[in-house]
Amino acid sequence: TRGSKIVAMGHYQPARVLTNEDLSKMVDTSDEWIRDRVGIVTRRIADNETVADMAAAAADKALANSGLTAADIDLIAVATCSSIDRCPNVATRVAAKLGVTAPAAYDINTACSGYEYALATVDHAIRAGAARNAIVIGAEKLTDITDWTDRSSCVLFGDGAGAAVVSAVADGEEPGIGPVLWGSAPEMGNVLTIEGWRPYIQQNGQTVFRWATFALPALAEKACTAAGITPKDLAAFVPHQANLRIIEPLARKLGVEDAVVAKDIVESGNTSAASVPLALSKLIERREVPSGAPVLLFGFGGGLTYAGQVIRC
Ligand code: ACO
Repeated sequence: TRGSKIVAMGHYQPARVLTNEDLSKMVDTSDEWIRDRVGIVTRRIADNETVADMAAAAADKALANSGLTAADIDLIAVATCSSIDRCPNVATRVAAKLGVTAPAAYDINTACSGYEYALATVDHAIRAGAARNAIVIGAEKLTDITDWTDRSSCVLFGDGAGAAVVSAVADGEEPGIGPVLWGSAPEMGNVLTIEGWRPYIQQNGQTVFRWATFALPALAEKACTAAGITPKDLAAFVPHQANLRIIEPLARKLGVEDAVVAKDIVESGNTSAASVPLALSKLIERREVPSGAPVLLFGFGGGLTYAGQVIRC
């Protein structure tokens, strides 16, 4: 049971920028409120791109950065909660676009924690010998399921995708993906929903906020313990990008203020399952994460669900 590691990443964001100023012309809100309460300055909005288009664009870059080719890939996993089509799934569409001929291909929906769930299942598949080289993608077009008349939610979301090529490590090489800490709080399922009869993101923001602030520090610490380290050992912390007022106190409670803390929410908004791979891919591109150093990924959101793991790449 050899482990796996992320060998390369890539990301894609649509060109169109939506500013707080733009939003203040659509609903009763202001740049000041959004910056103070959430920390978002801009977000990107897809025009013609589908979830699969963005997923494939991010995956294509990750593949190019990895030095592998489509022929090497035997598994594609996509985390998404905003794909409008049920079948075929996004993963097979990505395979068709990239020319990957016969991969195992599946989508995972655990809302904003989807990427960490997907990464764990892929790591497990590689450990079990069911795959060797995988592409793991988080991709969302949340603006398709945004109620543009609801000021309490429409200011939060954006579109985009991030992807990683994940490969089995060589014999004797240390695994780069640590044990997953995953779970849920199903009794709180109704506080964040995207339901068939009214397919918009609806949330009781304050309840989710309180849960995140109260529950996440201990869970994030557990994910570190599972990897045999403490939060203080982290070189970087990449949590789901839901609110700067969740990210910053969480970083403080973990004592990782001096590490690199992802704050891509400022420019990208909340992109659900895409937020962690998007932020991580940008940090890697800017060489802000020292290679081989421990990085904690941690997702949380609808379900309520959560998952996190320490990686090294
Ligand atoms: N502009 C101006 N005023 C607003 C806006 C806005 N865009 N939105 C709400 N308000 C008003 C409210 O109407 C309310 O006014 P009132 O006091 O007169 O009634 C006031 O601002 C405060 O509203 P709250 O909802 O209490 O605002 P809060 O500070 O809680 O911020 C937010 C809301 C940003 C949603 C926050 O609660 C949050 O980040 N929650 C967590 C979200 C999260 O983590 N979700 C999980 C991931 S998302 C996913 O899974 C897709």
